[in-house]
Amino acid sequence: MSIFDGQLKIEVAAASGIEAVVKRELLTLGYTPSGASYGRICFDGTFKDVVRANVFLRTANRVRIVLGTCHAESFDELFDSVQSIRWQDILPKDARIIVEAKSQKSKLFALRSIQSISKKAIISSMQRAYHIAELPESGTPYNIEVSITDDIATITLDTSGDGLHKRGYRTYLGDAPLRETLASAMLSLSVWKPDRPLIDPFCGSGTIPIEAALMGLNIASGMNRSFACESFYGAPSVRGEVQQEAEQLIRRDVQLQISGFDINPDAIQLAMKHAERAGVAHNIHLQVADMHNLSSHRPRGVIVTNPPYGERLMQNGEVEALYRDFGAVCKKMNDWCVYVITSHVGFEKHFGKRADKVRKLYNSQLECNFYQYLAPLPQDSRKKI
Ligand SMILES: C[S@@+](CC[C@H](N)C(=O)[O-])C[C@H]1O[C@@H](n2cnc3c(N)ncnc32)[C@H](O)[C@@H]1O
Repeated sequence: MSIFDGQLKIEVAAASGIEAVVKRELLTLGYTPSGASYGRICFDGTFKDVVRANVFLRTANRVRIVLGTCHAESFDELFDSVQSIRWQDILPKDARIIVEAKSQKSKLFALRSIQSISKKAIISSMQRAYHIAELPESGTPYNIEVSITDDIATITLDTSGDGLHKRGYRTYLGDAPLRETLASAMLSLSVWKPDRPLIDPFCGSGTIPIEAALMGLNIASGMNRSFACESFYGAPSVRGEVQQEAEQLIRRDVQLQISGFDINPDAIQLAMKHAERAGVAHNIHLQVADMHNLSSHRPRGVIVTNPPYGERLMQNGEVEALYRDFGAVCKKMNDWCVYVITSHVGFEKHFGKRADKVRKLYNSQLECNFYQYLAPLPQDSRKKI
């Protein structure tokens, strides 16, 4: 019997700092997530829920199936526990077995040894179950992770394949693009809702406006790509059902007020290509424009942006001057909320205002701060005392 027919423990990996956002997404999808430590959030479900999580989650990195957990203070202990998993219920005879190891705060820390011992244990279990001396490993790849934390090993099977930030619309890389999952998390952490105006004045290849449009139109972020689990041996074919659900949830009639500007015409051209591929070209306004000329006649909008941050993109001193000028522009748009992600530690000083809230987030491996500036509440929404 294949494990994919029964109840599964599902683990969702999230970048550090956005676990709570992923947890909220899981709740909205109707699941009961537990814990959110070390970038991992778990919930129980079926194989269909694995596919739903891959298709619908906007801010998670990947989705895995938990195959087992065990104490692993010695290599013998690790070998026995990995070998005891019923691999024949998970992997076909010709599976290409890829094992990745992780370790933190544990006695076993040599990643190469954890990886090779775990792989030996899987092979030995499969040889015994299938009565063959040599496994061809010529078929579908299966990515298994053995992650040891505080001497507890968790053995998981990756179901996503490419990371979930790969939505399928980005084909060309711009200058320092933002991960799609992070852009989506920034929007979720902001006060922006689809009925409010949104501007990204430094939009580059368009990630923030495109992610906002996908959210606004309720287009599932994984609709236009496939996932590793779709080719798992013995797994039920549920993608069609999930795809139909995603299609029914799209709200094409929503009127959005989303704009992306950039001073670089090549960046805007790229953003337009990406928007086209994402199916939202008609829902966002993209234009070559210098941030210095930014203004809006619309009230109570939201700026969510990722300005240039370092020497790779600009000369010394230019970034600081740009932040100062951006601060002056935002001051004039005083009923707008402003959200900025940058790895430049002096941002607040140059922008000229302390943020109401700062949150540490990561763009890939790069540590950044997410500065949040809230606009004053409108007069009529304040309670008169
Ligand atoms: C860090 S990149 C933004 C990347 C973007 N979030 C993405 O996902 O592709 C910063 C962008 O700011 C743009 N930029 C620099 N100075 C500008 C200015 N004065 N006005 C508008 N855009 C500017 C650059 O051309 C660059 O595309």
